[in-house]
Amino acid sequence: MIDPRDRLIVALDLPSVAAAEAMVARLGDAVSFYKIGYQLAFAGGLSFAQELARAGRQVFLDLKLHDIGNTVHKGVESVARLGATFLTVHAYPQTMKAAVEARGQAGLRILAVTVLTSYDDTDLAAAGYDFTVAELVAERAAQARDIGVDGLVCSAEEAATLRPLVGTGMALVTPGIRPAGAERGDQKRIMTPAAAIAAGADYLVVGRPVVAAADPKAAAQAIVAEIAGAAAQR
Ligand code: C5P
Repeated sequence: MIDPRDRLIVALDLPSVAAAEAMVARLGDAVSFYKIGYQLAFAGGLSFAQELARAGRQVFLDLKLHDIGNTVHKGVESVARLGATFLTVHAYPQTMKAAVEARGQAGLRILAVTVLTSYDDTDLAAAGYDFTVAELVAERAAQARDIGVDGLVCSAEEAATLRPLVGTGMALVTPGIRPAGAERGDQKRIMTPAAAIAAGADYLVVGRPVVAAADPKAAAQAIVAEIAGAAAQR
């Protein structure tokens, strides 16, 4: 069983390490797991990720790697040394295989991004694919499972259809979460924390509803309480 608090991953979508440090201090022990993406990673966030891991927090590095196998392999080895828990790669077979081989036994887990949620069927056709989004998500999820990838990033709606396909061995990590009444921002397909857990999500990635809240710690605690209630009923 995963502790409900460890199911909440707060996205540190902030411009500087100083801003991220201040947010982590404000959240205190309400949050145990943080996601660092392009914005912070390329502004000193990789050293900060290492500090967070040393301080006993879990870190999700959302770097969405995709390159030739050798380059991915070496990059993943370096990420494993930072002490991160999750790392994203794009769901291409060569990339996934190289990442799974390189993660070793270090405790790093590889998450595959099947199809970016900003893509619709027309965008896929423009990129040269003869698949719908639903077909390509299912195909890549099955490939990820067969290669031994540890989890998938997916919308909460997709979680319900992917869970039977990938079984219980893979973690489903779900952004697009909005507590009832929260602003949706640019997210189009949203679910509440409780609905996402009920749909089969294991971890919820939440950014603005926590970091832009008037009281981020209270917002995080409310989400963890909602997760705990929904997880107990699963
Ligand atoms: O602020 P908000 O809760 O919308 O942040 C969601 C986080 O999850 C952001 O860091 C965003 O980049 C990320 N994400 C997403 N949708 C995806 C994959 C990642 O919103 N499909």
